[in-house]
Amino acid sequence: MPIDFSKFAIVILGASGDLARRKLVPALFKLYETGVIGKGSIVVGTGRSEFTDSSFRERFEGDSPLKENFYYHRGLTGLKAYIESKGHFEQVVFFMALPPEVYLTTAQAIRAEGFEKNVRLIIEKPFGYDYESARTINTGLLECYPETSLFRIDHYLAKEAVLNILVFRFANSLFEPVWNSKYIDSIQINACETLGVETRGDYFDKTGIIRDMVQNHLTQLLLLLTMDRPASLEAEDIRASKLKALESVEYRECHRRQYEGYRNEPRVAPDSVTETYAELKLTIDNDRWNGVPVYLRVGKALPRRGTEIGIVFKPPQGFLFDGFGTIPPNRIIFKIQPSEGIILDVTGKEPGSDVNMTNTMLRFCFGEKYAGGLTDAYQKLIADVLAGNQTLFVSAVETELSWKKIKPCLSAGKLGFYSRGNLPEGSLGADWIDFENYGDVCM
Ligand code: BG6
Repeated sequence: MPIDFSKFAIVILGASGDLARRKLVPALFKLYETGVIGKGSIVVGTGRSEFTDSSFRERFEGDSPLKENFYYHRGLTGLKAYIESKGHFEQVVFFMALPPEVYLTTAQAIRAEGFEKNVRLIIEKPFGYDYESARTINTGLLECYPETSLFRIDHYLAKEAVLNILVFRFANSLFEPVWNSKYIDSIQINACETLGVETRGDYFDKTGIIRDMVQNHLTQLLLLLTMDRPASLEAEDIRASKLKALESVEYRECHRRQYEGYRNEPRVAPDSVTETYAELKLTIDNDRWNGVPVYLRVGKALPRRGTEIGIVFKPPQGFLFDGFGTIPPNRIIFKIQPSEGIILDVTGKEPGSDVNMTNTMLRFCFGEKYAGGLTDAYQKLIADVLAGNQTLFVSAVETELSWKKIKPCLSAGKLGFYSRGNLPEGSLGADWIDFENYGDVCM
């Protein structure tokens, strides 16, 4: 019989959770629709809850034919024989939608259950709580499976606008020559959410915004923006280049705040000192970036939702336009969400015989150019796991180094407060871009 390379057994650990319902299962339906997951593949939910196959299916919206191949198996014991009873599968992919404290014991249990070969493990973030725990998890995982079977997920890496950073930087000859401290004044990364912790108090209170967003998502944005050109687009080369940039990162200032009322949220400690907002300043101490501050601002319960990157350029050299007023700095804005785009904010001349300068926007808006919508990050990442492509996944050493670097910020300084729905006053002395001004440039 010919081997069917698109026939997978996909096991969701933590199948009753929110992530499975909101992200994973819709992504699996799409992958089935597009033929990446072939007919005859199965999806097995596992966990401690009791479900029948049909009550498990009912948890998910949509009526993809793949749903008929959804099964539920309580716990891991006997799972191998159970999967084998459903057919022969080229790969068994485990998606660990679980808290970090059980990653290792779960992987060990999978291995002990007899899953040896053709296994891929997808591990959610945060990968541990600090350097020591990340190291323990990595060491233990690598005793169970080789690095090529481990996929540490960071869904920011598969967002279209993030994938575009590499192309924008290295497939255009315009930008790379000025991508350094000679021309760039500062880099700003902004990730604001309007929602508070909602139903995730239990998870978030142990985690905080720095572990939840900075150690992983914002660090990945930072590295894609600042790394040197990789030797190739192969996973190993991209990972090596990111790692080299990360080695030079030094956090200089960290300010942590909590929104008022957070301590009354469900499953949050009444005396919690967990931060829901942070402002951080770092430098990248290498030849390319010496002296360029990088500002990160991230938080929940803020007045607007938006993830944006701003690259602010230094003023032009020379005195040609002295006496014509202040020339606004050139900026490149990467809009990651809620709408995606890249904007060049440059200076032009207003019509008329006088030289009146004004800023003007050159824009690449994904929504305008690609009317059909963009591929969801989880869909892309799961497809990459099925294909064995690790480019968009974080290596063991990178995740450990990233924890090491962020360590001084994890409990830095005195916790401040802010009122829900208000942007805290800046603590870094940074000249923050008003990203809202770019809100309707790409809708
Ligand atoms: C998750 C965090 O990784 O990313 C959440 O745990 C956060 O706290 C979410 O809300 C943000 O993701 P996105 O794709 O909505 O920016």
